[in-house]
Amino acid sequence: MPLRARKRAGPTEVFRGTVRAMEDEDGYFGESVAATYDESAADMFQPDVVDATVEFLAGLAGSGRALELGVGTGRIALPLARRGVPVHGIDLSQAMVARLRAKPGGDAIGVTIGDFATTRVDGKFSVAYLVFNTIANLTTQEAQVACFRNAEAHLEPGGCFVIEVGIPDLRRLPPGQNVVPFHVSSTRWGFDLYDVATQAMSSNYVEVVDGRGRYTSIPFRYVWPAELDLMAQLAGLRLRERWDGWTREPFTSESRQHVSVWEKPTG
Ligand SMILES: C[S@@+](CC[C@H](N)C(=O)[O-])C[C@H]1O[C@@H](n2cnc3c(N)ncnc32)[C@H](O)[C@@H]1O
Repeated sequence: MPLRARKRAGPTEVFRGTVRAMEDEDGYFGESVAATYDESAADMFQPDVVDATVEFLAGLAGSGRALELGVGTGRIALPLARRGVPVHGIDLSQAMVARLRAKPGGDAIGVTIGDFATTRVDGKFSVAYLVFNTIANLTTQEAQVACFRNAEAHLEPGGCFVIEVGIPDLRRLPPGQNVVPFHVSSTRWGFDLYDVATQAMSSNYVEVVDGRGRYTSIPFRYVWPAELDLMAQLAGLRLRERWDGWTREPFTSESRQHVSVWEKPTG
């Protein structure tokens, strides 16, 4: 699944043999996920990945402010703030935000705890962004549309909303099959489960830990570029740019992810 074009982070906490759906009000990114988030997403913390993302976003922010939806442990917010862009974040997870706070410069990032589909913060922003497939953490179309409307409400005229997300990997799904394995080894199996009727999907893991099986699952809603454009249109935004990645590689029919920028009209 292209949501894995770059590794996804944030599996559910799981008890042996059973899936624990959520960790209380922190959602799927509770204490146990937050504790190892940076290590488990290490490839996304590589300087080339972070620098390209920050460079792109800083260019859009200009002299304005940036709003990160799903700020997490500050992978992007912290280096963006170090570039001189004032950053505010929204996140559901106190545990993730505690990690951000504990890092150098963490106290410079304003954070509001809440659902980024609906939570409002003060002031206007020149850029709002939602990276690392996090739009797919909203598991209904309604919530994804609300997220676009919420982003738009925070933008100043001419401001931009940026999403980084994988292209749904349905070309790997043969007719009659709803499972795509993505990892097979003697101690770990990973597979994505698709419902093409609803665009619900989940990433599932079975691991052998201390000789016993452990099952983990996290739900997503996959979403196509054209559907995102329609959500943007509903929110009063228009597509400005779409790239294969942060260094502005062309987006093509072979792209497995995209970085899209929608603009709030000035008029
Ligand atoms: C994959 S992590 C990405 C974190 C960070 N943006 C990064 O790039 O490393 C997703 C983050 O979004 C948060 N999140 C997921 N759904 C959310 C929602 N509906 N409202 C607010 N935060 C949410 C999670 O708590 C988590 O911190």
